[in-house]
Amino acid sequence: MAGSSEEAPDHGRGVVIMDDWPGYDLNLFTYPQHYYGDLEYVLIPHGIIVDRTERLAKDIVKDIGYCDIMVLCVLKGGYKFCADLVEHLKNISRNSDRFISMKVDFIRLKSYKNVLIVEDVVGTGRTMKALLSSIEKYKPNMVKVASLLVKRTPRSGGFRPDYAGFEIPNLFVVGYALDYNEYFRDLNHICVINEKGKEKYRV
Ligand code: IMP
Ligand code: MG
Repeated sequence: MAGSSEEAPDHGRGVVIMDDWPGYDLNLFTYPQHYYGDLEYVLIPHGIIVDRTERLAKDIVKDIGYCDIMVLCVLKGGYKFCADLVEHLKNISRNSDRFISMKVDFIRLKSYKNVLIVEDVVGTGRTMKALLSSIEKYKPNMVKVASLLVKRTPRSGGFRPDYAGFEIPNLFVVGYALDYNEYFRDLNHICVINEKGKEKYRV
């Protein structure tokens, strides 16, 4: 029956945001006054990010529950997603018999056994490939990658995370810890920056 299945409709891609998605008008939400005039629109509101993250946590527990994992947060952009994902994993773990025991670290290479890498966005995939190859040297039992966003870009090398929150158009996005020259990490929603914003915070 439609809607009764626990299977994600497309486990690999996450929520797919199409190229013609106009986003939400900024005035429908609240955001810091110091960014007034610098943004184009809201691509993904904060509440939807958190709701999607809750489901990713459920998928992760279903796949790799009953083990000790090292959650490896890729700084700085991954910190919000990582913190929210870990909160949801803890909630599930506390309230069910499928539990995960977790330690959290911030990209510091040591010998890890079961690793969940938590990243903000996969673009070309080059950053993640380089990170995975440096982790492989330590011969972990298991390495999984969770990325909040995956961009549809012609420059993609084809890397796909094991868990993807949203597949987005080839746009530069900010907010929810993603930055433009260190700005906009303090914005809750994931937004598209406008020309004025780019100019204002250009280095
Ligand atoms: P990749 O190596 O092309 O996959 O790029 C991934 C890295 O670039 C991410 O870890 C981010 O730090 C950064 N990045 C890529 N796209 C964006 C964006 O739209 N906003 C903010 N940072 C980005
Ligand atoms: Mg990153």
